[in-house]
Amino acid sequence: MEHFSIVLGLCRSAMQNGNPALRSHVERLARALEKEEQSEQVDALRKVLKSAESLQEISPARVVLSKASLKGELLTPSVVAPVDRETGDPLAEIVFPDQRRVERPIFRGQLSNGITDLLEEWRHVDDLRNAGIRPAWATMLFGAPGTGKTMLAHHIAGELGLPLITAKLDGLISSFLGTTARNISNLFAFANRYKCVLLLDEFDAVAKVRDDPHELGEIKRVVNTLLQCIDGRAEFGFTIAITNHEALLDPAVWRRFDIRIEIPKPDAETRIAMLKRYFSDHDADDAVLRLMAWITEEGSGSDIGKLVDFVRRQQAIRKENFSYLHAVRNFVQMSAHENQSQNRLVIGGDDDALARTLASDRTVPFSQEQLAMLFGCTQPTISRWLKKDNK
Ligand SMILES: Nc1ncnc2c1ncn2[C@@H]1O[C@H](COP(=O)(O)OP(=O)(O)O)[C@@H](O)[C@H]1O
Ligand SMILES: [Mg+2]
Repeated sequence: MEHFSIVLGLCRSAMQNGNPALRSHVERLARALEKEEQSEQVDALRKVLKSAESLQEISPARVVLSKASLKGELLTPSVVAPVDRETGDPLAEIVFPDQRRVERPIFRGQLSNGITDLLEEWRHVDDLRNAGIRPAWATMLFGAPGTGKTMLAHHIAGELGLPLITAKLDGLISSFLGTTARNISNLFAFANRYKCVLLLDEFDAVAKVRDDPHELGEIKRVVNTLLQCIDGRAEFGFTIAITNHEALLDPAVWRRFDIRIEIPKPDAETRIAMLKRYFSDHDADDAVLRLMAWITEEGSGSDIGKLVDFVRRQQAIRKENFSYLHAVRNFVQMSAHENQSQNRLVIGGDDDALARTLASDRTVPFSQEQLAMLFGCTQPTISRWLKKDNK
């Protein structure tokens, strides 16, 4: 088939949407090519179908919340966010759902189900209210940095079809303290006026200043204003607060959030799923994905993103001289970490020692075939390396 690579690219991008009609057309194309015995092209299409399937499992169909369910006016791009009167800086950033579709972050099974439930609940606020049940309006997301919390907030707003108003609390507070309380009130008044999701990112900024012995009275006032604003927001719309430092928040704050979700660092299986998504438009060997999942043990989704970016850059520059193992080793050199995991120490060692470690790894074990691919040598060589261990 002429221009097959273009057609394949089209299918791949289109399949990301998960539209069932599209899927059946791609399947039809695969069957038609099969009749013409274009086995390579058929295989390529089947791969696209298969990887779309695995994405489908984690991203349910998009059902947008009925706009009538929420109070408030429609927020349009011509509306400007309120500003700090002293500095003129905007108090919030507004992202509209059609501006960019944010994919669902990849989480472990149970957590992913929890997120699906939360979305279901928020999509059905109307039903809840009609049944006399108070919906859970406020959610707190907490956990290590780079685990996908901000991404999740964007995804949720996108799935609900609502604009996301993001207030960086540290920004609000670093302005002149005297005007902080007013900034917070103005921001909430703005959010309450429109149909939206309000995101309070870096929420712990408030808790941190609370411990500051200077200007104690003023800070108390700020915190009280914030708590009152959160209380007053229920019934107007959804609120998501995010913190990386949950220990800093006191019980008075926690109580205000009906739903509290801890976002953990990804386990090995989740890391592999993330890598598969990054490489969905690329043919990457299983061994390569496993190596990247192995080296990012204890890392976050954001660490995996950085590794993938680095590897892609190396690949573009080195072309034929490119080796995944070499690139991953370089990455470890170039991305100093405060918590150096054992795997990051081992990867710099001799090839045979590294092969033995990988072959016996408990969470991400490697087969001899996968090792041969990674080290660019034959299986007998790998087998010899592994036997050295038993001497
Ligand atoms: N669970 C995840 N699934 C997919 N990508 C992730 C995940 N966690 C982090 N990332 C990647 O890292 C980037 C930064 O994540 P972010 O949401 O800003 O983390 P946080 O807000 O928890 O500090 C995201 O834009 C995404 O590219
Ligand atoms: Mg964040």
